[in-house]
Amino acid sequence: MKLRNLLIASIIMISSANAADELKLSMFKMEQGMNQIQVGFIHHNKSSIASGIKLVRSGIKLYTGKEGDFRKFLPEGKKHLANVAENSAKNVLASLNVIEANIKIKNIKKAAEAYGNTMNACAKCHSIIRSW
Ligand code: HEC
Repeated sequence: MKLRNLLIASIIMISSANAADELKLSMFKMEQGMNQIQVGFIHHNKSSIASGIKLVRSGIKLYTGKEGDFRKFLPEGKKHLANVAENSAKNVLASLNVIEANIKIKNIKKAAEAYGNTMNACAKCHSIIRSW
């Protein structure tokens, strides 16, 4: 599964970097990052959590780097929800900080809770786009 994602990500990197490719690449980075964080929690592996956080951060930055223009990623009829999308992107970043802070003070339960909040933030934006 991971290998498959890696392959897809490299194919996307090789192909010309238009906006849609960039969006896909950022999302795959975040997917891989979230996987690494989860593996880290399950296997008690802090470095996996740390590298996962780095990946998710770089992924969401690619996305938020578009001068906050979330409207163009939203389907017709959903453009008015751009602020909800933007807030969920902000919440991804904020919850990553909470994971880090709690790992530092060895509060693994709170850190895992924050990981759940990161996932919620992903789902919140996807729910707008995919009309879940
Ligand atoms: C601000 C909105 C937003 C946030 C936040 C967001 N995404 Fe996405 N995501 C999108 C859009 C737009 C697409 C492309 C449309 C689609 O796939 O439905 C997408 C697609 C994806 C895809 C590709 C899915 C597919 O069907 O191929 C993955 C994987 C993904 N996101 C992972 C994540 C992860 C992991 C997070 C959280 C860490 C996240 N996303 C947070 C907007 C967002």
